[in-house]
Amino acid sequence: MEQAGLGLEPREVGQPSAAQELIPQAPTLLRLRDAAAGCRACDLYKTGTQTVFGEGAEQASVMFVGEQPGDREDVEGKPFVGPAGRLLDEALEEAGIDRGRVYITNAVKHFKWKPQGKRRLHQRPNAAEISACRPWLDAEIGLIKPKILVLLGATAAQALLGRDFRVSLQRGQFIERPGLPLIMATVHPSSILRAPDDESRQIEMEAFVRDLKRLSPQQAP
Ligand code: URA
Ligand code: SF4
Repeated sequence: MEQAGLGLEPREVGQPSAAQELIPQAPTLLRLRDAAAGCRACDLYKTGTQTVFGEGAEQASVMFVGEQPGDREDVEGKPFVGPAGRLLDEALEEAGIDRGRVYITNAVKHFKWKPQGKRRLHQRPNAAEISACRPWLDAEIGLIKPKILVLLGATAAQALLGRDFRVSLQRGQFIERPGLPLIMATVHPSSILRAPDDESRQIEMEAFVRDLKRLSPQQAP
């Protein structure tokens, strides 16, 4: 097989990712997580503290896909444990969904940031990074085999539905794509945190919970 390189050169979108070669032959969640810990398929491993792999129930019928770990997640090594995670927890609870029964991951598994004073400022992953990381997401989907994938925000939607997909136009709708579980895209919890005032935050939170409530009937195993 052709050498896909050592992951040291920049990758064009659409090129096979070096991550693919790290996927174990007979994957389990543990084996995947271990393999992903050593991933160098894009440059983000250099600045992220660690690979933040997905977490949750192996039997989950719903899988949530965020963008990438944030500052807190990078330190703790777990997805959605910072401010966006707290908001997600709150929304899940309001929608009657048990976080312990779902699986939560990200489209990109290293934290991308740039320094701003003493803070690490979040930066959006680019298309090459999203595609470099895609084999991990595909492996998680292949292993968990959820009935529904919930894409949180534009990056997750871009990863699985392409760049032309607009969350604002199709949020909350169930979408079918060949080779994938049923998909629902909605907003990213961080977008609700960024709402300019309490009133709009409340309105956006209600809309988010409304989207999540559409999952409930399908959640039962
Ligand atoms: N935002 C994400 O998209 N994922 C996380 O894990 C945390 C914040
Ligand atoms: Fe590998 Fe994804 Fe980390 Fe890039 S972001 S090094 S592809 S795990």
